[in-house]
Amino acid sequence: MVKSSSAFTCTACGAAHKKWAGRCDACGAWNTIIEEAPLSRGPGRGLGAAKGRSIALAGLTSDEPALPRAQSRMAELDRVLGGGLVPGSAILVGGDPGIGKSTLLLQAAAAFARVGLNAVYISGEEASAQVRMRARRLGLSDAPMRLGAETNLRDILTTLDQERPDLAIIDSVQTLWADHVEAAPGSVAQVRAAAHELVTFAKRRGVAVILVGHVTKDGQIAGPRVVEHMVDTVLYFEGERGHQFRILRSVKNRFGPADEIGVFEMTGAGLAEVANPSALFLSERGQPVPGSAVFAGIEGTRPVLTEIQALVAPSTLASPRRTVVGLDSGRVSTIIAVLEARCGIPFAGLDVFLNVAGGMRVNEPAADLAIAGALLSAREDSAFPPEAVLFGEISLSGALRPVAGVENRLKEAQKLGFSQAIIPEGQKVEGLDGISVMRIADLTGFVGELFGAG
Ligand code: TYD
Ligand code: MG
Repeated sequence: MVKSSSAFTCTACGAAHKKWAGRCDACGAWNTIIEEAPLSRGPGRGLGAAKGRSIALAGLTSDEPALPRAQSRMAELDRVLGGGLVPGSAILVGGDPGIGKSTLLLQAAAAFARVGLNAVYISGEEASAQVRMRARRLGLSDAPMRLGAETNLRDILTTLDQERPDLAIIDSVQTLWADHVEAAPGSVAQVRAAAHELVTFAKRRGVAVILVGHVTKDGQIAGPRVVEHMVDTVLYFEGERGHQFRILRSVKNRFGPADEIGVFEMTGAGLAEVANPSALFLSERGQPVPGSAVFAGIEGTRPVLTEIQALVAPSTLASPRRTVVGLDSGRVSTIIAVLEARCGIPFAGLDVFLNVAGGMRVNEPAADLAIAGALLSAREDSAFPPEAVLFGEISLSGALRPVAGVENRLKEAQKLGFSQAIIPEGQKVEGLDGISVMRIADLTGFVGELFGAG
């Protein structure tokens, strides 16, 4: 048997390689592969050589009471956590540098401390005095939480083991330094080792641990995507720098629904919760203008209305621009192709700009119809009726497919004063009046109904 004494890992994407190479096959980055000592040799040569300890097996039912979740009274945070903080859970909060992670987690620590949890916030990036100053500015000084400033993992674990808090926040995982791993802080090997130790500690001692992680430009937690697999819950804190809105999104949650969002607004005094995001995202809408379509979406369990904005202009470029913010650009290309092929509406020679108002991100396929609507409205220079919302998935044939959660979408639209909805023909709607529904079979029909062509 070949004995492997070392392994190679890409520091950019975390992919494992058998041997060193100048370029990582997985992500294409150059000079990112480093040699690492393996984490463990496993059972070794021949399973009989060293016997393991036998583990206790148990049934599915038990008399232990269900662990109570702790509610922070920050409703937006509790929702994203799936109804509160689960004791002993490991959570990763990722986001761009400067988006507000430290602010959010300092507020979260204070909120949990105020409801009686023993909360500890350990910063590897700022001195305690700096954190204290920020806490004062956020009006949190009276919260019974404690601060630490440390990057040495061994010291942090020893401290947490003595203190046994209910919640430990580590800001950030990239600053941690595990002295048993020979690699620089922030490297894949260090981050993986530190996250592994902290997650193991969380499970063993029943301490909820929140790890903060900086994300690289392409949206991966810098280096180690491995951390995502280790933790129970992965939350992303996102938003556009120029906008004050911030969205906390659960992309993985072992204790609740994924794709749940919490909406916050960055103010001079920290993050304020936004209880009605639809009203906020639509607040900038003025007179009806061409290129604007209101999408009735669902984020997690909550309906959220957003405005999709398009601009279509003659292009001077050989390959016209397709600039997309807040939507999946592959999806947008598909919709443009369907409009061209099935409805005979060319976009060649035209620059297309698309975005979601307010810095929101929309990933649902149900947004297809609103995207097509915004594109057509911009191209034909004809505004939508301002009282209409749209949703529906577009198939490659141009047909509209029904989507889930229709009652929720329509109720939210009605609540915000919309009186008309444009939806797929096959969509079943039960028990809703007060909103008139226009049913559309396919994209050609849609063009014909709304833009008098097709
Ligand atoms: P921070 O929480 O330090 O970001 P991260 O930890 O994700 O790097 O937030 C930094 C930004 O937030 C900074 O540019 C200033 C802004 N901010 C406010 O607008 N209001 C506030 O009350 C605070 C504390 C920060
Ligand atoms: Mg920070």
